[in-house]
Amino acid sequence: MSTPILEMKNITKTFPGVKALDDVTFSVQEGEIHGLVGENGAGKSTLMKVLSGVHPHGTYTGEILFEGDLQKFHNISESEEVGIGIIYQELALVPEMTVYENIFLGHELSSNGLVVDWNETIKRTAELLERVGLDVNPSTKVRDLGVGKQQLVEIAKALHRDVKLLILDEPTAALNEDDSQNLLDLLKEQRKHGVTCILITHKLKEVIQVADTVTVLRDGQTVCTLDAEAGEVTEQALIKHMVGREITNIYPEREHAPAEDIVLEVRNWSAYSPRLGRNVLTDVNFNLHKGEILGFAGLVGSGRTELSLSIFGNPDGYRLSGDLFVGGKKVEFGHPGDAIRSGVAYLTEDRKDKGLILIQDVKQNITLANLDEISERGVVDNNAEIKVAHDYVESLDIKTPSIEQEVENLSGGNQQKVCVGKWLFVKPNILILDEPTRGIDVGAKYEIYTIMNELVKEGISVIMISSELPEVLGMSDRIYVVSGGRIAGEMPTSEATQEKIMDLATDY
Ligand SMILES: Nc1ncnc2c1ncn2[C@@H]1O[C@H](COP(=O)(O)OP(=O)(O)OP(=O)(O)O)[C@@H](O)[C@H]1O
Ligand SMILES: [Mg+2]
Repeated sequence: MSTPILEMKNITKTFPGVKALDDVTFSVQEGEIHGLVGENGAGKSTLMKVLSGVHPHGTYTGEILFEGDLQKFHNISESEEVGIGIIYQELALVPEMTVYENIFLGHELSSNGLVVDWNETIKRTAELLERVGLDVNPSTKVRDLGVGKQQLVEIAKALHRDVKLLILDEPTAALNEDDSQNLLDLLKEQRKHGVTCILITHKLKEVIQVADTVTVLRDGQTVCTLDAEAGEVTEQALIKHMVGREITNIYPEREHAPAEDIVLEVRNWSAYSPRLGRNVLTDVNFNLHKGEILGFAGLVGSGRTELSLSIFGNPDGYRLSGDLFVGGKKVEFGHPGDAIRSGVAYLTEDRKDKGLILIQDVKQNITLANLDEISERGVVDNNAEIKVAHDYVESLDIKTPSIEQEVENLSGGNQQKVCVGKWLFVKPNILILDEPTRGIDVGAKYEIYTIMNELVKEGISVIMISSELPEVLGMSDRIYVVSGGRIAGEMPTSEATQEKIMDLATDY
């Protein structure tokens, strides 16, 4: 019989207007992988922030026992000292620094206590990168890695300290299937070495695959704790406890078929990145029909985001060649604003960095990209802004105490919904969604899919970039596979399978 390494008893944590945790009791056995699941805003991240001292002792009520000792962490260093390591939902690396600088930031290696031993640092970094299965040069700048690879750097960073309890808050949200699997294997490997792990994820299949025990939170309360060995951890059971009702069909039916008209076409499209000194896109050709949901599958780093950005006013300053047609007319967008005026919108995969202004409130973020609509001669009409914000908070079921809440304080999934609302309000003809359901719970995913179906029914065309193949297959009319900055293949969804897509995605 194993013993609890962690016991959290009667934890209650309130924010202005929100009871995020309401008398939560949570216990983790030594050496297990413990899944923590629940809808967006259920309180998962908050519980882990209480545990790790991000929310210091005194700002919550209840008790934390780690290895049997009562703990009152006042900051994150204190929890690190006893062997707790947390990897946040929102990545926290310094983009301008190299991989090795990030990993050893604050824990610099030095033989004499004065001068940092860079050779040793780079050597140790290479070992850590190998341990997490990341094949990049330690001297690469973090900003030059995709979010997927950045996540692995985060994990390497946590592993290099001797953690006893590793907390991962949605570690695979940004990873493709292969990278996710590597990570899960890595956790199983760590379990063999006695590391205890708490895994928060919306990908229920992952929990089912690796977790020994799963705790479900709903509205700040513990709903139940399920035991995998006893056969209690099934997808149906998890969904039922999370949402409080059964969801049988994850992808809503769509009767509507796309029209013949082509609304967007890209011909012989290449993009050279002066910063990287290479082509990120080579001779891409594709088209999008009116009322179509077009799926873009591919591995993380395959060029899908670069393709979208190069179309969406080219904010990263690639040198472009080739032709872009919108509504049959050849266009050149010098800036995202040009693209928006032509009816093209782009939901970024990187909501924290590019998608939201975190210190502004929900209503300002929702109306951000279409202020004209709610302004009279350049002055924002506050009542109009409030009405629009209320509409989207309601239709997207955004969980927030008010539309005046700063977006920074929303749960990850609800931040994502604010982003979706922002682009819906632009009322685009062409909507590019880059990983639209990342970090979104099963119930809310269904809502976003339903919205996508409604949009195409109204004649809007959608490009959906997704690293989750079931989602690509479940939602697209047609699929392009991107690989190595090229289009590796195209097929109607009726002819597509996961194997076919993966074959093309890895073939360059
Ligand atoms: N710093 C804060 N200030 C105000 N409210 C907060 C703050 N942090 C969290 N909340 C609120 O507490 C609740 C729980 O949020 P939390 O981030 O723990 O959810 P979560 O279960 O991690 O959701 P997700 O799956 O979307 O990440 C939400 O209603 C959120 O808006
Ligand atoms: Mg969270």
